[in-house]
Amino acid sequence: MFANEEIGIDLGTANILIYSKSKGMLLNEPSVVAYNTDTKSVIAVGEEAKQMVGKTPRNVIPVRPLKDGVIADFDMTTQMLKILLKKAGKSSGLSIRKPTVVVCTPSGSTSVERRAIENAVKSYGAKQVHLIEEPIAAAIGADLPVDEPVANVIVDIGGGTSEVAIISFGGVVSSNSVRSGGDMIDEEIATYVRKHYNILIGVRTAEMIKMEIGYAPVEHEEKTMDVRGRDMVTGLPKTIQLSSTEVQEALREILSQLLETIRTTLESCPPELSGDIVDRGIVLTGGGSLLNGLQEWLSNEIVVPVHMAPNPLESVAIGTGRSLKMIKKLQKANR
Ligand SMILES: Nc1ncnc2c1ncn2[C@@H]1O[C@H](COP(=O)(O)OP(=O)(O)O)[C@@H](O)[C@H]1O
Ligand SMILES: [Mg+2]
Repeated sequence: MFANEEIGIDLGTANILIYSKSKGMLLNEPSVVAYNTDTKSVIAVGEEAKQMVGKTPRNVIPVRPLKDGVIADFDMTTQMLKILLKKAGKSSGLSIRKPTVVVCTPSGSTSVERRAIENAVKSYGAKQVHLIEEPIAAAIGADLPVDEPVANVIVDIGGGTSEVAIISFGGVVSSNSVRSGGDMIDEEIATYVRKHYNILIGVRTAEMIKMEIGYAPVEHEEKTMDVRGRDMVTGLPKTIQLSSTEVQEALREILSQLLETIRTTLESCPPELSGDIVDRGIVLTGGGSLLNGLQEWLSNEIVVPVHMAPNPLESVAIGTGRSLKMIKKLQKANR
């Protein structure tokens, strides 16, 4: 009955999303697994596991199996994927039987890993499994005309990596990837607080600081936030007040790396496509692109227009779910 169901899976380093072409978004959860080292079993996945980060007893470890944009722990990745697929099926009230699935894997994954992901999804009952490159999925999800002979530039700022890609005619013309994604931004904030206040904070706190008072280098009305951590000298909990100007300072270096990567990619663009980029500009996507002031800052720094994707956290999943038609077209063209 659901034989024609088309499912897209965004296997992101920070979040996993499952999208059905007919039902919309079925699932959106952090890519985290809580693992019991004594019993060697998975205790929780997704949101439930993320809540445990930094708070678990010694025998339970939270794992981010896709951290840094590569499949760092393959077994864990497939276990997590299977549990989440089951959950998506249940919550949507439809048994996703024999669907056609398109999976978007992190760009750092090897062909062996990709094949293994494909098999894991197949073993779950998919009729057909296709893989798609992340920037192409993101571009489709952001409603860009990827199959036309015009240059589309996608800047995808994810958890583990940021990727800049120029796409034309359904393929990646040139791309660059850097490790400065959202995770690294969180780490920079934690480092700043440690250096300037002698306070240790966890990655979850750092992420909250980023979302609330993190700013790209643009003028803004200063905000402050109370931050709790552990005093490195006394070992006791302590609360400090952190300002958005300080966080801005902490992020300066890492954001300039991102800017360099964008510049380098644009400079490597074939001349025939350069004109398109000047007219059409670049599109920001991925959760990291939601950083306050980022669009404004990039617009000031690079000469081309900078647009936001309509739904940065979801574009890859949506694009993946909608990509089947194009994948078939491309397969035909490449035959
Ligand atoms: N409002 C926000 N401001 C800044 N960063 C954000 C915001 N919302 C989400 N993020 C960051 O986006 C990253 C996750 O983006 P996502 O595109 O889901 O990554 P991935 O594709 O690697 O799974 C995380 O580092 C998260 O902290
Ligand atoms: Mg992503």
